[in-house]
Amino acid sequence: MKLPFAECWKIKMVEPIRMSTREEREKWLADAHYNLFMLRSDMVYIDCLTDSGTGAMSDRQWAAMMTGDESYAGARSFYELKDTIERITGFQYVIPTHQGRAAENVLFSHLVKAGDIVPGNSHFDTTKGHIEARKAFAVDCTVDEAKDTQLEVPFKGNVDLEKLEACLKENGDKVPFIIVTITNNTAGGQPVSMENLRGVRRIADKYGKRVIFDSARFAENAYFIKTREPEFKDRTIKEICREMFSLADAMTMSSKKDGLVNMGGFIATRWEDIYEGAKKYEIPFEGFLTYGGMNGRDMAALAVGLDENTEFDMLRTRIHQVEYLAKKLDEYGIPYQRPVGGHAIFVDADRVLDRVPKEEFPAQRLAIELYLEAGVRGCEIGYLLADRDPITRENRFGGNDFLRLCICRRTYTDNHMDVIAAALKNVYDRRHEITRGVEIAWEAELMRHFTVQLKPLG
Ligand code: F0G
Repeated sequence: MKLPFAECWKIKMVEPIRMSTREEREKWLADAHYNLFMLRSDMVYIDCLTDSGTGAMSDRQWAAMMTGDESYAGARSFYELKDTIERITGFQYVIPTHQGRAAENVLFSHLVKAGDIVPGNSHFDTTKGHIEARKAFAVDCTVDEAKDTQLEVPFKGNVDLEKLEACLKENGDKVPFIIVTITNNTAGGQPVSMENLRGVRRIADKYGKRVIFDSARFAENAYFIKTREPEFKDRTIKEICREMFSLADAMTMSSKKDGLVNMGGFIATRWEDIYEGAKKYEIPFEGFLTYGGMNGRDMAALAVGLDENTEFDMLRTRIHQVEYLAKKLDEYGIPYQRPVGGHAIFVDADRVLDRVPKEEFPAQRLAIELYLEAGVRGCEIGYLLADRDPITRENRFGGNDFLRLCICRRTYTDNHMDVIAAALKNVYDRRHEITRGVEIAWEAELMRHFTVQLKPLG
């Protein structure tokens, strides 16, 4: 008999969680203005809000924390981290930051100015926020295939090279760099192929532009390259990472994802001028160059985490769990962005709640229903998150409306996946009774989904 697949780790420490009653959840959610970000974590049974900073560290990472060097300047832990990053990416200049958006803030302060145009695949919301806050524009050149959730193509996160080239032809002088997000979170945790990254590089070289990778889930991207792009099937994840980054000039990183730590980020680059420019903003915004918002112990744990998570077994264990949940949804006929991506299931809320008008935010309504059903917290990645157009102030209904169910790294078991799937099935079975969504009672100007207050309709 073929042996079944199992995790490449065992569990050494556990954290109790508890299921609440539906009555409790109804009250809590009303108090939270129907915004799941406003719930306290002990009101949540299984937390799929994000895979960011929510994973479990290994015994080796905890051990590394004890050796952290907390020196203000020149900390040994910084140099351990820098050496690891250089080994994995080839980038010799490293600037630590307290998380990914801080890396964007520091780097974009140097590179982005009013009127600039920053093309790429889908920009994550903080990336777009940091561009738009500088009165510049983010142009999403993701392949059209990403919009059709039922289409099975291996690299739905790719940049459409024709769209990219058209953007550069038209606005070349206004483009400070191209940014490619690996994996493409907004499009469903979808990977970008090496072939596509090579294509982006070719176009960038033709127009004399630099390429930056938003690398939050770069290791998962490397896993998909290994398993889906035949040229790379015999290459190690670390070799694939080196090759991916050889096609970029710099990276921003949220270490809270593929760095396997709870907090942290960094900028890395091969270019001295980028480093020198970013340095000027690093010190006032984040801190001195060898800690930038991070504890020495956290940099030590990150160095170990980056090494662990660029090993095939670790990534296979993780992606296998996401695929396990996806298979359950297939059994129940629940539509999601196919094929399932790296860190989450993106349920196609427009299709599930097809009686709820766009203007009433179907994915948010689905998130509410799933929470009320079983205390499972997902996250709307749709029309609320898309914010308003900076010029017209109209809602942006052009993209997909997803309920994202993130799977934290090394945190839940497949039994939890079964509960998530069953809860979603129960909501799915009564989908035709759900005809109304929510309306906005209060919203912030940028990144509104974090703090928005909502009123349920009907
Ligand atoms: N880039 C990508 C692709 C991300 O997914 C995130 C965060 C960031 C940048 C910003 O990093 O949170 O460390 O400041 N994504 C989280 C998520 C919040 O839930 O997808 P950060």
